[in-house]
Amino acid sequence: MSGTVPGPSQAELKRQVGEAALAYVTPGSIVGVGTGSTVNCFIDALGRLPGGVAGAVSSSEASTARLAALGIRVYAASEVESLPVYIDGADEIDHAGCMIKGGGGALTREKIVADLAARFVCIADASKLVDRLGRFPLPVEVIPMAAAQVMRRFAKLDAEARVREGFVTDNGGLILDVQGLSIDDPAGLEAEVSQWPGVVCCGIFARNRASICLLGTPGGVRTMMF
Ligand code: A5P
Repeated sequence: MSGTVPGPSQAELKRQVGEAALAYVTPGSIVGVGTGSTVNCFIDALGRLPGGVAGAVSSSEASTARLAALGIRVYAASEVESLPVYIDGADEIDHAGCMIKGGGGALTREKIVADLAARFVCIADASKLVDRLGRFPLPVEVIPMAAAQVMRRFAKLDAEARVREGFVTDNGGLILDVQGLSIDDPAGLEAEVSQWPGVVCCGIFARNRASICLLGTPGGVRTMMF
């Protein structure tokens, strides 16, 4: 019988990059931990790191629970002045390391923890690499009172923002998912949206872009440095 040998599944690629991220964690340090299915693979690998870590600063209640279940101490962001590294996934990443994040709704805490870190290591399967950000609907966390006005502002940019139904963030905010943006200037759009009244966090990570991306490909883990 002829046929092609199936490549690794997306789940396997996520497992590989989660494991590969351990190389960027110094045993005995405190590590910044993101949120999502790829990060879950990293957390599971972290539980097996020889020497272990002193602890983690987590970007969501979900990651905190997973870390705690492995006996990894979770520090509040206010308990650390800085972190050597932050490990997180992305919904999209471009060739400059700019990302769209927040598909899981944890973007605000993710940006706060990323901002504490000297390096952002993005872990992602190859489907996340794009030439231009914006095909994935841009998540924006807003204070509920501001939702309608922020939606009108996006409409003026010829984009359509929708409230994520039945979802409240860990901070009590709403998520708007914005479709129809073609993001030529990630840093510019991030700066613009971030200063609209009532916007808590814009899911473009350009200012806090990745320093390194470990991309899971059928040929193995590809390291991209930015
Ligand atoms: C969580 O809010 C997001 O920013 C995630 O990092 C992003 O959605 C990637 O998630 P997956 O690893 O599950 O694809």
